[in-house]
Order: sequence, then structure tokens, then C-alpha cells
Amino acid sequence: MAAIGTWSFSQSAVENMRRMILSGQSATDCVEKAITDIEDDAETGRYIVGRGGFPNSRGIVECDAAIMEGVPGRFGAVAALRGVGQPCCVARRVMDRSPHSLLVGEGAEAFARDQGFTIEQNDKMLSKHTLNAYQEFLDKGKYASGHDTIGLIALDLTGNITVGVSTSGAPFKAPGRVGDSPLPGCGLYADHTVGAAAATGDGDKIMCYCPSFHIVQLMKQGSSPKDACCCVLTDIQKKIGKDECFEIGLIALNMKGEMGAASSVEFPYTCWEKGMDSVEKHVILK
Ligand code: GLY
Repeated sequence: MAAIGTWSFSQSAVENMRRMILSGQSATDCVEKAITDIEDDAETGRYIVGRGGFPNSRGIVECDAAIMEGVPGRFGAVAALRGVGQPCCVARRVMDRSPHSLLVGEGAEAFARDQGFTIEQNDKMLSKHTLNAYQEFLDKGKYASGHDTIGLIALDLTGNITVGVSTSGAPFKAPGRVGDSPLPGCGLYADHTVGAAAATGDGDKIMCYCPSFHIVQLMKQGSSPKDACCCVLTDIQKKIGKDECFEIGLIALNMKGEMGAASSVEFPYTCWEKGMDSVEKHVILK
């Protein structure tokens, strides 16, 4: 049993997952519920996840989310989804109830509506902070900075592993822009014989390297989660030059409950494993 999440704001999510795992809930339910709580709360993970996330260049919040179980073929995702405060729930419905794996834009919205989700007006997706930031962007062309994707991995009591991610993407992005998060192998990957991984950072760049798939393949060949994350980061840095490296944070968890992370920037992450009384916060320093 174990759980890990990206950035400091995953602390409450990992605490929730700890409680749910200990009460016998499935890894998928734990990940979905913990991500949804963050998505739907404009203040937690504000600016970058779900409700309260930064809008695109036209002021509209468009979210990407995905969920993947370790069991082969179990993946669902949505991209550029508007008007839904719980994008990860919609991704789970895609996995469970759709013949497809990834739905985008209007198609994702229509699927969400058919599944009973309320499609909200855009002003309900914005917060006071993101509205102000958007106004500043319009007035001064100033790009707000902020961390991004919530990525969570859970290993449950029965040995199932699930990874999920959610983000509102790059601040003031072009309408229709999709990052790494909903792309399998890029933003997330899971294999029930090995473990799972998730990525956060500059999704336009991350998607060129399939880091989550790469991490899982290295773990399959015997690397620890930490070594696998470090090796994938080093591999990218060797290709493009360490000083040129874009923002990327990586987390991984294997089927033994061992965890690891690596990052090109200062990167706090939170984790819990069997035997720990509470969730721990770690920071990778640049
Ligand atoms: N890593 C999230 C994004 O760039 O969309």
C-alpha cells in the first residue's frame, strides 16, 4: 500500500488516498476521488487544476485529465474540456463506459453531458484570482507563472495500481492546446506487473519524450523508482543540454510500494507508504 502526488498541494489528496486505501477502497476510486476534490475546489491547486485554473487566451478554462489502471487497456482521458469542474471523473467514465480512450473539446463535453455531468458557464470555472490574472494578461501581456498538473498514484490493499492526472494546462494557452497530461506514456503510465509514473511541467515539451512510459520500462528492467526517474531526466538533459532543460517533475511508484521522483526544478512532492503514520512532504532541490 502506498500513495504519491506531485507538488505541495497534493498533500490533502495523498492524505485522502491514505485513508481510503486503509479502508479497503480501490486504487482507482482513491485516485479519482482525491483528484476530484482538488479539481472542484478553486482554492486548492488554484490556477492550474480544474475549477479556478488559468483560462486560455480567450478567457475560457479548458481542462485535460486522464486515469490509467495497471491492468492492460484500462485508460480514459479528456482534453480541452470546458465547463466541467471534475474533469478526472469524466476521464474515468471514458475509461469505464466509452468504447474510446480519449475525447476532446466539444465531443468530450457532449459525452460528459450524456453521462449526467452539469456543463457550467465559464464564469463558474474562473476564480477571482484567475480573472485578475487574465485581465493582467490582456492589459500587459503578462504571463502568470504557476505550477501545474496534479498527478497521483495509488497502490491499494489488493495490489492494484492506478495513476491519474489533471490540469488546466499552460496559462493563457491557445484554444484547443493539449499538453502531455492526457497522453498515455507522456503524462502518465501504469503497468500492473511493474508500477506507474506521472509527469508535471511544460507539457508542450514533455510530450516529445514519453517520460512516464520510459520510467515504467526502466523499472521493468530492474531500476528503482528513484533511479528510473533520475535516468529519464538525465536522458532528456543529455539530449537538449542541462541548462536548456524545460520544467519537468517526475514521480513513480512500483508494485513493492517503493517510490521515487526527479525534477529539473525545485519540486515538492508528497507520499505515504504502509507503516508511515502520516503523509510526508519531500522536496527535490534544483
Ligand atoms: N503539464 C501540463 C501541461 O502542460 O498541460
